Amino acid sequence: MNMPETHSILLLPGDGIGPEVVREAIKLIECMQRAGLALDYCQGLIGGAAYDACGTPIPEQTIDTARRSAAVLLGAVGAPRYEQLPRELRPERGLLAIRKALGLFANLRPALLFNALAESASLKPQLVANLDLLIIRELTGGIYFGEPRGLRTREDGQREAFNTMVYSEHEIERIGHFAYQAAQKRHGRLCSVDKANVLEVSELWRQVMSDLAPSYPDVELSHLYVDNAAMQLVQAPKQFDVIVTSNLFGDILSDLAAMLTGSIGMLPSASLNESGKGLYEPVHGSAPDIAGQGRANPLATILSLAMLLRYSLNLETAAARIEQAVAQVLETHRTPDIAAPPAATVTTSELGDAVVACYQCLAAKG
Ligand code: IPM
Ligand code: MG
Repeated sequence: MNMPETHSILLLPGDGIGPEVVREAIKLIECMQRAGLALDYCQGLIGGAAYDACGTPIPEQTIDTARRSAAVLLGAVGAPRYEQLPRELRPERGLLAIRKALGLFANLRPALLFNALAESASLKPQLVANLDLLIIRELTGGIYFGEPRGLRTREDGQREAFNTMVYSEHEIERIGHFAYQAAQKRHGRLCSVDKANVLEVSELWRQVMSDLAPSYPDVELSHLYVDNAAMQLVQAPKQFDVIVTSNLFGDILSDLAAMLTGSIGMLPSASLNESGKGLYEPVHGSAPDIAGQGRANPLATILSLAMLLRYSLNLETAAARIEQAVAQVLETHRTPDIAAPPAATVTTSELGDAVVACYQCLAAKG
């Protein structure tokens, strides 16, 4: 009899609330293992945790294990005590390096409002009810990685610093195809965001995105300048289906979109390469101010695990079941960031337990 291949997941808890939220995802993985899913996991080091243990935010072994794993689930990186370190030793560098090393060019950041949270969002409930948009951020190019970059002292003694925002046609096309195909699977509307009225790099971006349009006649393409896009996201967020944009603009707009959904503690993300290998992480970051207090919302990490099962392991049933369990649990259990009576305000671990219990219940019903 052929045994199904065991999918191995690399867990990188990282810093701040990373370890506590990843712990809740582990409970679910173990529950799925008990139910017979061929899953396995191991843990590795990244960020400040890696720096403390081995003097680098991204040990070679982490990259090697990531390459051999079916997918990676990351908690968060960064804490104030590492801010004085030289740039190449800071926790954030670990995250940027693993994105680059694995070629994770496509970053999916869905902003989906769970109906139970409409009252927690910063906008009026009618503006965000049923909100479901997807930001696709280019993740391995642009100003984050462009050369030359640096800090120098001019002849007149003034220091100056510089970065380069650069995109090749190939990089734009690659994320463009990805975004058009994502729009085809959703509602067929793609909005490309740039700053083409000022930047040459954006002019090329806009041209390449437009040149791809004839290959996707079923997708309606539009363009917005990034400042206008920020305004429209707050004014009428439901007009959007899929947004595609560059690394820096996507970083900013995805935090903005996150708050439309009630709490940044709810948002998962996926970063994929050309072969579908992915790194999955909550959008929220390490939140050092609440680390270790049991206050962190584990749902973004749990929903990231659902994305991992869907996109990298092709386990759609399990993924959808997790999402359904989260939606149900929100009615009765909340962490402080989204607290709203009559739902009970619970700890990170209690919320994780409630999701596992609900998942098991849904699985038993089939
Ligand atoms: C994100 C974060 C990272 C980024 C930081 C931590 C390097 O803000 O994933 O959005 O800017 O990409
Ligand atoms: Mg960010």
